This record gives sequence, structure tokens and C-alpha cells, in this order.
Amino acid sequence: MRRTSCAFTRKSVIASGLCATKTTEEGGAGEGACAKAEAMAQKKTAATFRIGKFLAVATDFMSNGANNNRAKAIVTAEAATCSIKEAAVAAASSRLTGSTPAGTIRHLYVHIPFCARICPYCAFYKDLLDRSQTERFCEGILQEVQQCAANFDIVPRTIFLGGGTPTALTIAQLESLLRGLQQQLDLSELTEWTIEANPGSVSARKAALLFKFGVNRISLGVQSLDDALLKTLGRDHNAHQAEESFRLLRDAGFSNINVDLMFGLPGQTAGQWEVTLKKTIQLQPQHISAYCLTYEEDTEFFLRHSRGELRSNADLEAEFFELAMSLLEEAGYEQYEISNYTRRGYASTHNRAYWAGEDYLGIGPSAFSTFGMRRWQNVPDYREYTDRVLAGRSAIKSTEELTPEMKHIEKIALSLRTSDGIPANLVAAQSARTDEFVRLGLLRRSNGNFILTRAGKSLADSIAEAFI
Ligand SMILES: C[S@@+](CC[C@H](N)C(=O)[O-])C[C@H]1O[C@@H](n2cnc3c(N)ncnc32)[C@H](O)[C@@H]1O
Ligand code: SF4
Repeated sequence: MRRTSCAFTRKSVIASGLCATKTTEEGGAGEGACAKAEAMAQKKTAATFRIGKFLAVATDFMSNGANNNRAKAIVTAEAATCSIKEAAVAAASSRLTGSTPAGTIRHLYVHIPFCARICPYCAFYKDLLDRSQTERFCEGILQEVQQCAANFDIVPRTIFLGGGTPTALTIAQLESLLRGLQQQLDLSELTEWTIEANPGSVSARKAALLFKFGVNRISLGVQSLDDALLKTLGRDHNAHQAEESFRLLRDAGFSNINVDLMFGLPGQTAGQWEVTLKKTIQLQPQHISAYCLTYEEDTEFFLRHSRGELRSNADLEAEFFELAMSLLEEAGYEQYEISNYTRRGYASTHNRAYWAGEDYLGIGPSAFSTFGMRRWQNVPDYREYTDRVLAGRSAIKSTEELTPEMKHIEKIALSLRTSDGIPANLVAAQSARTDEFVRLGLLRRSNGNFILTRAGKSLADSIAEAFI
């Protein structure tokens, strides 16, 4: 059996070759999407040993991973024929025939693609920060929000400003962005407003501004608290700066901070990982995400890995994963998803909604949206994106119709990774399989759900694959 992708990387369900879907792109009904997807899926085999093919499920469409560069492979048309209005109408009508009731959009993702430096392992859609472009870009974002608000009933419970590096924007730009969101949206039911921040990119003034405008959750990209490894990762901060940024955010009033960490780094020892985990615990964040480094296509690390300059070691990664589970649980964190640990009461509502398959809108270049049985993606190019939206045109690059089978598979793959487990009715037809996994000690039954045991967590990919 293959070990779990403690990973964070998730590929499109399209890439899994589950192509009972149609993609609509300029020039008419988009047959050909399946062929592209097949090709994509095939190309990926080398890079997927920790990520079961089934996990190609759209697990990251909603949260920050939604904007992985890889997604570009599914959007090859030059322009979209679908306007946001058409998307809304089609999605609403698909809801009438689909399994979910029509409803209000409760979750919003906003993608800010700028970074002060490009990290060699990162496949998210991002570009080098160009201060001459950012103001116009922010206007574009607010324009798209306006388009969406005119076509959807949006009363968000969660907003996630992800990137890229949203905090790379200036104080003035962040202020106009946050003010614009406040003015254009009904935020009366908003409970969680997250922003991703890089150490070093948040000054005390910036933090105070975010706090004042109602952002109440910070996701800080620490990655490691080992200076040598941070250098290997090409980060523009050291461990001390990361800890200082954390304290600065606390001093600004943030009582809900997530720290992103990565393990399985080139040359990393178990001792180094243990020190990072222990130092992170000492900071007392409410939430910790621990991702296994994935060698993503289209990155420098991927090339270096293919050339044999960087090596991964599955046994060591499994050891790191075990170490994270042990130390974090010992320190009082609950592992509520394979890569996510929380103090009681601080699980991310945004991520949970997405793992539960709820609808969401993605604003910004390359962002995905899912509503009913329809999923669409914006152009993954911030210049084209800005030109389009400011000219009153749609930012949508491609759309796909989801099938009940795809939804079913996504639900199994996503729920299995969570501490709630798979609702038994989703795998009712496969009782022999569930019995076998229970007998092997990989699944346990609780409240009508099948939940991964500790041993099962390390084999989650293979277990989910077996159900699909
Ligand atoms: C949107 S990304 C980056 C956010 C922020 N710009 C930063 O770098 O801290 C969110 C998180 O994904 C994780 N990540 C990015 N690339 C990864 C990769 N190739 N493998 C595993 N985790 C990755 C990192 O932990 C990162 O903090
Ligand atoms: S700062 Fe974050 S989003 Fe930007 S390149 Fe590095 S990992 Fe990717």
C-alpha cells in the first residue's frame, strides 16, 4: 500500500481522468478536455507517489491550493464564452437537477498572486511583486466582487484572502481592498476572515489595519524554524524573523493564528523537524498546518528532483508525519484533517466548508468557484484578469459540469482525510471493503462514520483509492 500524501497538493478531479464531465470553453462544447486531462494525469505519474490518483480530486479548489499553477493545464482556451451571469444561471439551474438545494454563497476565496520572491518549490499561481500593477489589480478584484454580487446571493460566513502573498500589498492597497469588500458585501454573518501572511511582510501598522477591518485569522507561512532549511527553501526570512512576525501579530490583537510548516525537506533530519515542531508549539498558535513537501511540476525543485539533485525518502517522510502527530497531539492539538491540527474551537470553518463540499466563489486570477454541479476557473494571468474585469468582461476561463459520480468521489476523498471520516452511506455498497479495513485496523466505526485509525492515516491515499 502506498503511504498517505500528508500532502497538500491536490490535483483537479479532471486530471484524475474521471472525465464524465464536459468543459465549456470558447469555440463551443469543450470535448477534448478529457483527452487533455488524460494526458495530464499520465504526465503526473512520476510526481504522484504520495498522492493517490483518486486524490486528484478537487481537494484544493476552495482553499489556498485552489490556485496551484498546475490548474493551468486544464484551461487552454484563449477566452471564455461564459459570463459570470451565465455561470450563475447555469449553476442555479443545475442545482435544480443536482442533489443540493439552491442556496446562498457562504464562502469566498480571494487570490492575491504577488510575491516579493518566488520560492523554488511553489506551484501556486503567483508572480513577482510589481508595484506598478498592484493598485489596478486591486480595483479589478473589487470589480469582480461587484459582478459576482450582482449575480449571486452572497452572505459570506468565511472569507479567505490567499496567495501568493496578500500582505505584499501596501497598507493603502489593503485598506481599499478591505473597505471595498466591506462596502460591497453583506458581512453580517461573517465569522472567519483569514489572510495569508509571510514573515517579514507584516509590519505592526499593517497588522493593526487588518485587525481594525475585521480580519480575525492569520495564516503565517513559517515553513521551518531552521535557518539552513529556510535557505534551502529560498525563503526571504530566517527563523528569528518568523517568530518575531508571529509575536507582532499577537501584539496586534490576533487571537487566532495558524502556522504553516513543511516537512520532508531536502536534507532535513528528524531532529531538525522535532526542533521546529517544539519551537512552534512554544509560540502557542491556535492552528498548525504541516504539509509534506511535494515536488510540484513546473517548479525548480521538481526539475532538481528529476535530475536526482534533490531526493525524497518515503520512510523518512512517514517518520516525520508520525512525529508531527505525536508531538502535536501531546501538546493538545487535535488532528482534524491529515495536514491540519487545531486547538479546541479553532478549526478553520473555511477549510471545513470546503471539505464538506459546500459551494464557494473564488475571486481573482486562477481562482476556482463551485456552485451546484458547476465548477469554473478564472484566467490564471493577473494582467489579463485585470484587463477583462475592468472592461466589464468575465474573468472566467473555463467551466465544467460536475457529475454526481464526481461529487461522490470528492466527498469520499475529502471526508476520509478528516477526523469526521466517511459517512457510512457513501460507502454502503462496499461493505466488504470497509469490513476488511476495519479488520486490518486501518478504519474504525464511530457515529455511523468510517474514520481512519492512526495506522490508517499513513495509508489514507490507498484506502481512499480502494473505495473509488
Ligand atoms: C499559498 S501557500 C503560501 C503562502 C505564503 N505565501 C507563504 O509562502 O508562506 C500556503 C502554504 O502551502 C504550503 N506549500 C506551498 N508549496 C508547497 C509544496 N510544494 N509542498 C508542500 N507544501 C507547500 C506552504 O506551507 C505554504 O505556507
Ligand atoms: S511566498 Fe508563498 S506563494 Fe509566494 S512563491 Fe513563496 S510559497 Fe509561493
